[in-house]
Amino acid sequence: TWTTEAFVEEAIREVRAKVGNKRVLLALSGGVDSSTLAFLLHKAIGDNLTCMFIDQGFMRKLEPERLIKLFRDQFHIPVEYVMARDRFLERLNGITDPEEKRKRIGHEFIQVFEEESRRLGPFDYLAQGTLYPDVIESADTNVDPATGERVAVKIKSHHNVGGLPKDLRFKLVEPLRKLFKDEVRKVGRSLGLPEEIVNRHPFPGPGLAIRIIGEVTAERLNILRDADLIVRQEVNRSGNYSEFWQAFAVLLPVRSVGVMGDQRTYAYPVVLRFVSSEDGMTADWSRAPYELLETISNRIVNEVKGVNRVAYDITSKPPGTIEWE
Ligand code: XMP
Repeated sequence: TWTTEAFVEEAIREVRAKVGNKRVLLALSGGVDSSTLAFLLHKAIGDNLTCMFIDQGFMRKLEPERLIKLFRDQFHIPVEYVMARDRFLERLNGITDPEEKRKRIGHEFIQVFEEESRRLGPFDYLAQGTLYPDVIESADTNVDPATGERVAVKIKSHHNVGGLPKDLRFKLVEPLRKLFKDEVRKVGRSLGLPEEIVNRHPFPGPGLAIRIIGEVTAERLNILRDADLIVRQEVNRSGNYSEFWQAFAVLLPVRSVGVMGDQRTYAYPVVLRFVSSEDGMTADWSRAPYELLETISNRIVNEVKGVNRVAYDITSKPPGTIEWE
């Protein structure tokens, strides 16, 4: 029978046998897969693991800071923090097309990853949080066409864009490759990962950049970060967090008229997107409690400057997607 203890023991043995005392690079995203992977590898090879966190500037408010603090101070796993916010924003300057946004973010990510892995390297291995469904889905995505060997041709978090240059095609370490998501959660929990990471809602690689419809600007990012934080706080407080597959805010690039005190306002609307789902492939819009929606709406309009209206998305998937871009 499968137990987390047996899995962890076996995985550690395998990793040690495979990488010996060579160096391994891991791109930490803050999600449960890469976090569990980091814990496991740190247990297995200690300082020969380098965790790199690239801050694109599209994460939720306070999350990069919390992640780094958690890893460094609480778990004593060192993290190379790469501040790249300006570069990503620059790349998105004037861009409104969703596909183009994703493409640019993906390319920039690869570029930063390349530069930083050269600076911190050399590394022999790249650790990837590949899960069983990923292995099935992209059977040959990470196979070197020249040798047939499983190497890092593409990076998981942005596997739809670009490839890595030949000299950065590290060999792969993928100790989670036989696991399903719920098993990763169990393993993460057994290694001591906090619930806030183990149970975290899915969050897209391009992050808030695809939840700001149209052009991404520093001002809009600030507005959405603040609105999104309120959503998270209130969903947590309501005790309903686990009822939702995802619960987040989207910022629209139009403005509408409102009134505040005796002042007319002309500001952005925020859309709340709450869904239930089994796997993200299909989803139903959530019948969230009115009290929760009311609190969120009041707080956002009162506390977030630049927003004067809150709407609720009542579209299921299909025909809607979960994200708006
Ligand atoms: P959609 O919007 O296609 O989303 O219904 C389905 C699920 O996938 C997530 N998602 C992403 N995850 N990178 C990711 O890692 C992405 O580019 C991306 N786009 C969407 C989305 O949050 C939902 O859970």
